[in-house]
Amino acid sequence: MTASLKDKHILVAVCGSIAAFKACELVRALRKEGADVTVAMTRSATQFVGPATFAAFTTHPVLLEQFPADPSAGVPHVDVAEMFDAIVVAPATADMLGKAAHAIANDLISTLLNIVECPVLFVPAMNFRMWRNPATRDAVTRLRGWGRRVLDPDKGTLATLHEGMGRFPEIPAIMAEVRELLDRPQLLRGKRVLVTAGPTREPIDPVRFISNRSSGKMGYALAAAARDFGAEVTLISGPVQLEPVPGCALVSIETAEDLAAALEREIKGQDLLLMAAAVADFQAAAPAREKIRRTSRPPTLKLKPVPDLLKTLRKKFKGTVVAFSLQAGGDLETARDKLRDKGAEFIVVNFYDEPGAGFEGDTNHVWLLSSSGQEVEFPQDTKAAIARRILEFVAPHMD
Ligand SMILES: Cc1cc2nc3c(=O)[nH]c(=O)nc-3n(C[C@H](O)[C@H](O)[C@H](O)COP(=O)(O)O)c2cc1C
Repeated sequence: MTASLKDKHILVAVCGSIAAFKACELVRALRKEGADVTVAMTRSATQFVGPATFAAFTTHPVLLEQFPADPSAGVPHVDVAEMFDAIVVAPATADMLGKAAHAIANDLISTLLNIVECPVLFVPAMNFRMWRNPATRDAVTRLRGWGRRVLDPDKGTLATLHEGMGRFPEIPAIMAEVRELLDRPQLLRGKRVLVTAGPTREPIDPVRFISNRSSGKMGYALAAAARDFGAEVTLISGPVQLEPVPGCALVSIETAEDLAAALEREIKGQDLLLMAAAVADFQAAAPAREKIRRTSRPPTLKLKPVPDLLKTLRKKFKGTVVAFSLQAGGDLETARDKLRDKGAEFIVVNFYDEPGAGFEGDTNHVWLLSSSGQEVEFPQDTKAAIARRILEFVAPHMD
């Protein structure tokens, strides 16, 4: 399901690219879908298209100056920054991408980009050499890392008749991105979210360990979704084969003991804990100091239970806790007991014996149970989609 643009307040920030005239078409397309559009222009942009064109298309005055000749009361750019559901920087110049990536705020648009908390989409258009310039690449990587959406420009014949990547993307592609952007309501804006992900490893000796099949994919998807919903995210991760989630602080751990210490350090000031890590239930009672040698009689491995991290944490953590439970055969009863036992507000249940769910894969099928008795099923979908649905359900129940 994609978001409707009806009555959404969208700022189209036009920069000084030869493609500035194409922003007129974008503004019209947004308006046709019911969006309330305001245009801001850089001084360079006005060299390419007159503000009167955009004023006519939008029926709003065009925002041009950070320091207008007749200053009004207050700090207008701060007020403006709070007015919009989304900002589309189109065309985005190499100059504006660089400024946004480096906290440079020396005109109205770059200042707004430094302040806004709403979703931002950059639609670059530039000479192909400008696009592949390492400084531009670096700016794009930084912005994407912070959860800003930066479209790739199209490949084709550029204004200079050069062939290359740099063309302003087609309007339908931009519109699809804008819808996608607005489909990410900032449900967790201003919230701090702590996510644990992946397995733990419990040593048997210096070279061997007990672990489990957790890939960390569900926890990483939750971290990315929480970031996209506007949260400040810390991800505590066991050993996994995944790239760090851009825009989330990463704390790497190995054992359940490391995890307990990391949780102890990181939990302060958090609003939501998503405990997706597959923490070992048992550890070696006495890990050997040296590698256990092969002998004709295999050694006996004595295990002891790992302390219950969540139960311990619950006593001091006042925020919302989402526990995770891996069951078999569609068993929800055990998870209901676990929810009560842990004192969590929610528990996500998935099943290791179900194809396309549980560990390792890219999809999942879960039940979300709440301490107030709600039980909802999220049918099989990508872990990214399931993560969003979990957060959409949980966010309104947070203080
Ligand atoms: C004719 C002409 C076309 C330009 N086209 C682009 C462009 O497509 N993309 C871009 O990044 N810069 C382009 N530039 C350079 C920008 O206009 C210049 O970097 C300007 O300082 C950008 O200012 P702004 O980011 O405040 O709009 C062009 C310059 C000229 C003179």
